Amino acid sequence: MILVTGGAGFIGSNFILDWLAHGGEPVVNFDKLTYAGNTLNVAALDGDSRYRLVRADICDRDAVERAFKEHGPRAVVHFAAESHVDRSIHAPADFIQTNVVGTFNLLEAARAHWQALEAEKQAFRFLHVSTDEVFGSLGPEDPAFSETTPYAPNSPYSASKAASDHLVRAYHHTYGLPVVTTNCSNNYGPRQFPEKLIPLMILNALAGKPLPVYGDGRNVRDWLYVGDHCAAIRRVLERGRPGEVYNIGGGAERKNLDVVETLCDILGELRSRGAGRYHDLVTFVKDRPGHDRRYAMDTSKIEAELGWRPEESLESGLRKTVRWYLDNADWVASVQTGAYRNWVETNYGGR
Ligand code: NAD
Ligand code: DAU
Repeated sequence: MILVTGGAGFIGSNFILDWLAHGGEPVVNFDKLTYAGNTLNVAALDGDSRYRLVRADICDRDAVERAFKEHGPRAVVHFAAESHVDRSIHAPADFIQTNVVGTFNLLEAARAHWQALEAEKQAFRFLHVSTDEVFGSLGPEDPAFSETTPYAPNSPYSASKAASDHLVRAYHHTYGLPVVTTNCSNNYGPRQFPEKLIPLMILNALAGKPLPVYGDGRNVRDWLYVGDHCAAIRRVLERGRPGEVYNIGGGAERKNLDVVETLCDILGELRSRGAGRYHDLVTFVKDRPGHDRRYAMDTSKIEAELGWRPEESLESGLRKTVRWYLDNADWVASVQTGAYRNWVETNYGGR
């Protein structure tokens, strides 16, 4: 059995479905179900004996310890986090709690569990899922981030993730806990909450709303299709070396404005807007404070050591993603109500 935290969110749910489809061990999904956690994301596993949801908070030490005692996991895959940079700018407290304190609780429980293991001790892994944002921002000519690039986080989100990465590293160095950390670039694909660039643009465009591009739209992100990220995590869990860090990225650097224009092209093809063009909805808005200019990942280590590389091109991945949002109106309706709507209205006066 593996314990997956945050498995009702975007990447976690894609991972659980992918893991079980590839014959992986049964999964216990430990998730608080915040605004970003949606049980519809894992509805395909309802009634499946290989899957169980524990609704709990990683900041609740007793609940975390209970989960280890009850389920005795062979591995932990830790996705649970507050994940949105804009939210971290408006309200950073939850980011410190979940990303730092929550990760600390998990590490403490994992350490006690691992130390008590006997025959299974060798096989135990704690896989910490992190981000390229811990490395800061690149200039246009800088080489891509490698595993040895010094940390320089710029937002409360990336600082909280950096803190968690350091804790994970320290638990290996000090206690020998068999951890592996992955730092990944921007993901996109099915079931991503529409606060992030790609799903927000798709859904706003379909609703005829403005497409808010921050600043000059020339900030660069390295986009990775979520299925490729899941395959990389599977590979790292199977063959990654304890104590090591692996960078994961799509090799697909694009300016934000180019991504938005491509989405408009695909939407125009799949769902015509009649007389109007989706491109006409593009609206430049005030920049994100402290907005990192460019991210890019050097993935030569995971390619050479573990034989992983992304399979989806950005254009084919975006097409699949647009189709998914067009075909899943029920899911879209489910996330456009409740806490998310309240938060947007409170912080942005509705959008
Ligand atoms: P998400 O926001 O879609 O999902 C987060 C999940 O964690 C939700 O199911 C939520 O309910 C759960 N959660 C939040 N706080 C919790 C708590 N205190 N206790 C238990 N569960 C809690 O996030 P995502 O985009 O799927 O990202 C998953 C992980 O991958 C995060 O650690 C993030 O930092 C990392 N990451 C994301 C990206 C990306 O592009 N989305 C890229 C690199 C790394
Ligand atoms: O790089 C990995 C990170 O990618 C992950 O660690 C984070 O969890 C994930 O949220 C993502 O962070 P970003 O801030 O890069 O993602 P976001 O989708 O919020 O923004 C992508 C780019 O698009 C960024 O340069 C800001 C810009 N943007 C975003 C939104 C939501 C806009 O121009 N307009 C928008 O409305």
